[in-house]
Amino acid sequence: MFNNMIPERKPVRILFVCLGNICRSPAAEGVMKALVAGQGREEEFVIDSAGTGRYHIGDLPDHRMRIHARRRGLELTHRCRQVTQDDFSDFDLIIGMDASNMANLRAIAPSPEAERKLHAMAEWFNPATTYDHVPDPYYEGSEGFELVLDLLDEACRNLLSDI
Ligand code: 4NP
Repeated sequence: MFNNMIPERKPVRILFVCLGNICRSPAAEGVMKALVAGQGREEEFVIDSAGTGRYHIGDLPDHRMRIHARRRGLELTHRCRQVTQDDFSDFDLIIGMDASNMANLRAIAPSPEAERKLHAMAEWFNPATTYDHVPDPYYEGSEGFELVLDLLDEACRNLLSDI
């Protein structure tokens, strides 16, 4: 689907980005790592996450996201960090969860080449999916967290099959 965006060389370095780096992007990191491990392809990837904000630096993911992820067999142990300009050289694909994340990332991209590494997670949603972004679950209930995990599972499966 998106092979022209994905580098030939391995490992492919993927950074997932949201606002807080305690809900959506550490979940995306956990989902992707589990899919990769399930295929025995850990050596082909570097997978990390970061936030555009700095409210929760050093924290584990939100306890609600950890509970919902654990129900699916995912243990989320990432420690929150803020995205940096160095990430644009350290990663091949930088994948934002929503339009606001994408705008914040574009604002700090150090060059046009760096900006070309930016992608929206929704690019890997199934065509029939009605969402065009991964909605922020922070002020939502359980359904919000389950929806995020469903969308991330779908998108990560499609991303992995593209690589
Ligand atoms: P995330 O969710 O961007 O998916 O990690 C949020 C987490 C924290 C806040 C906002 C969104 N916050 O405002 O603290």
